[in-house]
Amino acid sequence: MKFFIDTADLDEIKQASDWGILAGVTTNPSLYAKTGGKLADFEDHMVKICKIVGEDVPVSAESTAETTEGMIAEGEHLASLAPNIVVKLPICEESLPATHKLAAEGIRVNMTLVFSAPQALLAARAGARYISPFVGRFDDIGDDGIEQLSTVVECVKNYDYGYWDEEGGPEIITASVRTPHHVTQAALLGADIATVPFGALKKCVHHPLTTEGLAKFAADWAKVTGEAK
Ligand code: E4P
Repeated sequence: MKFFIDTADLDEIKQASDWGILAGVTTNPSLYAKTGGKLADFEDHMVKICKIVGEDVPVSAESTAETTEGMIAEGEHLASLAPNIVVKLPICEESLPATHKLAAEGIRVNMTLVFSAPQALLAARAGARYISPFVGRFDDIGDDGIEQLSTVVECVKNYDYGYWDEEGGPEIITASVRTPHHVTQAALLGADIATVPFGALKKCVHHPLTTEGLAKFAADWAKVTGEAK
């Protein structure tokens, strides 16, 4: 499973990129707003992200247009900003024809706010390069996000779609990830990607037994060096 980072924070993206594990970045209007960024700086900000990660690493930039025509125009414009921009569109009646048109032009779409298998199947048929089922938001309302994800993965992987075959698409991005447990479960289910906020990514690095083991090694090594107190 590949790791994307789910943030628009440049420092977090730089750090995760330096870890050598980063295969992509996903942003959304809320994540951009969190950086304190203004509308006038949005495009520059997306280009900065693209430069940090390098042009082989896809960066999802979300369109806020509400009509099919608007999504197509904004999608074409966003895609022209950098070769690694992926246009993020929310699943809806307007975005399906927009995705179909953008895919025909070779522009990659990440279909977001996916909460059901039928939505995911429609996204795949319309030509989405990436499909983003949300996990954490199901948990937030007392549902089981991982169970929902498993249905999406199984349904989508049952078929071929004739789009993005050479790139191995459409790929499923497990989104709205909150915990290392979500990451493990996504990998067990065979999701292609997990997009993980930096805080949760850091939690994935650590384990209490690793911390304990390190302390023990340090204490024992201090006996060897004679520095033990
Ligand atoms: C997907 O790409 C979204 O950015 C995302 O994962 C949102 O998750 P949230 O539920 O943490 O806002």
